[in-house]
Amino acid sequence: MPEGGFILIKGGHVVDPGSRHDAPADLTIAGGVISACGSDQPAFERVIDAAGLLVVPGLIDMHVHLREPGGEHKETIETGTAAAVAGGFTAVACMPNTAPPADTPNVVKGILQKAQEVGSCRVYPIACLSKGRAGKELADFRALAEAGAVAFSDDGDGLADNALMAAAFEALATLDRPVIQHCEDPTFTRGVMHEGEVSRDLGLPGLSPLAEEFMIARDLALAEGCSARYHVAHISTRRAVELVRTAKAGSVRVTTEVCPHHLLLTDEACRTKDANFKMHPPLRPQRDVDACIAGVIDGTIDMLVTDHAPHAAEEKARGFLEAPPGIVGLETSLALFAKALIAPRHIEWYKLIELMSTAPARIFGLPGGSLAVGGPADVTLIDPHAEWTIDAARFRSKGRNCPFDGMAVAGRVVCTIVGGEIKYEL
Ligand code: DOR
Repeated sequence: MPEGGFILIKGGHVVDPGSRHDAPADLTIAGGVISACGSDQPAFERVIDAAGLLVVPGLIDMHVHLREPGGEHKETIETGTAAAVAGGFTAVACMPNTAPPADTPNVVKGILQKAQEVGSCRVYPIACLSKGRAGKELADFRALAEAGAVAFSDDGDGLADNALMAAAFEALATLDRPVIQHCEDPTFTRGVMHEGEVSRDLGLPGLSPLAEEFMIARDLALAEGCSARYHVAHISTRRAVELVRTAKAGSVRVTTEVCPHHLLLTDEACRTKDANFKMHPPLRPQRDVDACIAGVIDGTIDMLVTDHAPHAAEEKARGFLEAPPGIVGLETSLALFAKALIAPRHIEWYKLIELMSTAPARIFGLPGGSLAVGGPADVTLIDPHAEWTIDAARFRSKGRNCPFDGMAVAGRVVCTIVGGEIKYEL
């Protein structure tokens, strides 16, 4: 479909928190933008029958590891964005723990260039907080923002140095770009799973939940009073959710996100010693899962993300102790969030789309998140009732490290349109 084509999406149910629309309607696309909702227009190049489908603003994932440059054996911008559109995403933000890390304008520009050439969806680079992600010296935020960085993070590692973190908040307040903190204080023992009964039973080194909670508490204290925006990456503990909830009631500009695995799995899964259950932050006990779900329901948690972290099969085969942490998520997250949140009736589709599209666009100041006339034609079509079985062998991602392989799920992406071009069809 060439850009600029006329497309009619007919007979679907439009769920668009961006324009507060939740009703049956036709949607029309022309010249890469939403041209009208519910009107008749002649000479469409393509008419999509959306009967029984949800028509929603393209999903946006603010936490993705595309691995390029430097980790192309795990994923590339081409394969990662192909996976993204298969998962309903029209935009992803990519983390800077590449090789070299995204701590110079050249690396940021290189990612944008590559995405332009081979990407299936929009790509927003997140640049490093510290040079080399080494936690010693701040990166040049202004130059990186000018090159196209939408936010700053040392994801994979938290920025531990107090003075440096205070300086980062100060510098970023003037640029109005958020810090995305990987909240794990490295002065706690860096274990391979949640520290508790299961880690003790397995004899595996545990990581205290306090590592996450200390860093959030410290950052909230540092951010208070300065106008910096602070985003807590992949929140996972009860006390962490409580800290963010309390801070939101005060003066800190804090937001947060949660991943599907922290809503669906507990540390009990690690008893299999399958390294596909190893990630940072680690799987937690049920009380933490319950607290994260409560945080989604009451609005403490602002958005849903994947932390898509592909690793090669031979890397994950090193065993639980030695395997790198992380799991893939782009092609499964919609169905998994539906399983965690919609099937048990914690939230409705409208709220899910708010959390997966409208909120990330609003909070990070990105295009999309809405199907309002005149906006970019980033649209996802979802069959909310389609039942299917996750099969990692069929992923477009290079990564097969999926703890949900073989799981029966419901809710499937049927079509993904980016800027008026059909980039994925089931
Ligand atoms: O499990 C994880 N893997 N957590 C992170 O924060 C980093 C990621 C990776 O890059 O593999």
